[in-house]
Amino acid sequence: MIPPHIGIIMDGNGRWAKGRGLARSAGHLEGLNAAKRIVKAASDLGVRYLTLYTFSTENWKRAAEEVAFIFDLVKQYLCGELAFYRENGIRIRHAGDFSGLPPDVKQELEDAIAETAGFTGMQVILALNYGGRDEIVRAANRALAADQAGDGRPFSEAIFEAHLDNPDVPPPDLIIRTAGEFRTSNFMLWQGAYAELYVSPKFWPDWDKPDLMAAIENYSSRERKFGGVSE
Ligand code: FPP
Repeated sequence: MIPPHIGIIMDGNGRWAKGRGLARSAGHLEGLNAAKRIVKAASDLGVRYLTLYTFSTENWKRAAEEVAFIFDLVKQYLCGELAFYRENGIRIRHAGDFSGLPPDVKQELEDAIAETAGFTGMQVILALNYGGRDEIVRAANRALAADQAGDGRPFSEAIFEAHLDNPDVPPPDLIIRTAGEFRTSNFMLWQGAYAELYVSPKFWPDWDKPDLMAAIENYSSRERKFGGVSE
């Protein structure tokens, strides 16, 4: 069974480059190529939503040149792939704190979102300036603001969820992390509560369609009980 929503923590770009005696930027560049391969593969396999953890709220701690390089790649990806999005019906969306993004990235992101808004194929959600805790705090503030005229009753999960970044997107069924780390690193903390986790030892730049298919096959063998018991 193809999981309707896959989230990917794309890790290992730096180690991939280091192992080849290259600069970290070379790893990110190959990481972008891997992202393009996996977006196409996921779309061809019938995945409905693909969330890519591209830049976290913690990634600002990296050297300014590395941050600038990653944002340049993001812009390149957003504006250079429109023909591909059109051909494959791919809709681009964003998760994360939009207000904290560099102005030029905001512009490219807004353009790509608007240009692909009507496409009905797979949705690619770029988690950019994204942190799970940050999303929860922003959602809590939006829920509070929306309740200004309300009765002050405690929020239910359903009311709270309606204030997350993309409330219409179902929670991820499968979260993949590459490069062998067994951590979720602040990725989709709320939505990932019942996601199946899959860790691949391969560095992200080495990922290709067979790796995605192996992850999906492994997912298919799992029994999802959502806190209940087997039938
Ligand atoms: C993790 O590797 C990767 C990132 C923090 C950047 C992700 C960016 C890309 C894959 C390129 C752009 C992609 C899109 C979809 C526009 P790391 O640097 O943490 O690797 P390390 O742990 O080995 O140092």
